[in-house]
Amino acid sequence: MAIVSSSSGRKSPRRETALVDPQPAPEEQVIRPDDSLRPKRLAEYIGQSELKQVLGIAVEAALGRGEALDHVLLYGPPGLGKTTMALVLAEELGVKCRITSAPALERPRDIVGLLVNLQPRDLLFIDEIHRLSRVAEELLYPAMEDRRLDLTVGKGSTARTRTLDLPPFTLVGATTRAGSLSSPLRDRFGLIQRLEFYGQADLEAIVARTAELVSVDLTAAACARIAASCRGTPRIANRLLRRVRDVASVRQGKGTIDDSMVAEALSLHRVDNRGLDASDRRLLSMLVDQHGGGPVGLETLAAALGEDPVTLETVVEPFLLQQGLLVRTPRGRMVTDAARSHIAEAA
Ligand SMILES: Nc1ncnc2c1ncn2[C@@H]1O[C@H](COP(=O)(O)OP(=O)(O)O)[C@@H](O)[C@H]1O
Ligand SMILES: [Mg+2]
Repeated sequence: MAIVSSSSGRKSPRRETALVDPQPAPEEQVIRPDDSLRPKRLAEYIGQSELKQVLGIAVEAALGRGEALDHVLLYGPPGLGKTTMALVLAEELGVKCRITSAPALERPRDIVGLLVNLQPRDLLFIDEIHRLSRVAEELLYPAMEDRRLDLTVGKGSTARTRTLDLPPFTLVGATTRAGSLSSPLRDRFGLIQRLEFYGQADLEAIVARTAELVSVDLTAAACARIAASCRGTPRIANRLLRRVRDVASVRQGKGTIDDSMVAEALSLHRVDNRGLDASDRRLLSMLVDQHGGGPVGLETLAAALGEDPVTLETVVEPFLLQQGLLVRTPRGRMVTDAARSHIAEAA
């Protein structure tokens, strides 16, 4: 599988160096075809059983008919395996994967260039697809629906439209904000799938797999502790494992890493037993101490924390909501009793 990549980076200010930020760090943004940590096939892809089942059937059916796979939209919080799944799909289909991200498709010619170079049944992966420009979106509609590209040639009164036929292809879009997709775009995806946070057993399997790939020896308890602290997110699990390995290699050299070594590394980085870091605890404490537990509006909360509201909503909050530490009400965010006791414990 060949990979053609053009990507763009954007980080939130507050979580720049956060160990438990689910967004890719700059060095994690480059998508390398030889990245051995990424599962290559569906069978290696851990967890997300419903997603794997639905896509597995769709792939098999498409292969059976010799057709391109229907367009797929993957959505969910960062770090759960959307990009990985796009690459897995290309591998399973035995086709080339062209990778780009919506902010790189600013000018019409960017998307035209990608589309006209597609080979039959190729997979085109567009990350952050909610950020597509209007022009790009409008070029995509007929391309997705009728495999047709409508180009305007010339300028002013001599301008005319030329139509180009495209080969059958599969668009895989990924987004952390499915709600920000325009409905005509969303409607053109045949398969719309949400990725969920991973459970403890799947995370342990992911940590164990990565440990083996990077030749790190972990006890079962050490593996379980990393899994419990990674916010249900494989990207964070792999990153925690790297930091634990650093601490262990300085403190004990080679050798099996046990639970207390993991605990030491996590506390050094101020990540607690639920995977919250100092800034998450600050968010919860602020709600409790200054707002009586809430409700507080998103904008107010973001301003008080010096955070961008969109990042707060799409990157920081989903895990806190899933953990039952925070609730969204029509009047704003509120902490739960679980959050109050967690904060009290941590203090
Ligand atoms: N199901 C999985 N099994 C094993 N590792 C995974 C899985 N999903 C993701 N990962 C790991 O987590 C990292 C982040 O996944 P990625 O696909 O880049 O997330 P997203 O695109 O949703 O932000 C990958 O590099 C991969 O190593
Ligand atoms: Mg991604």
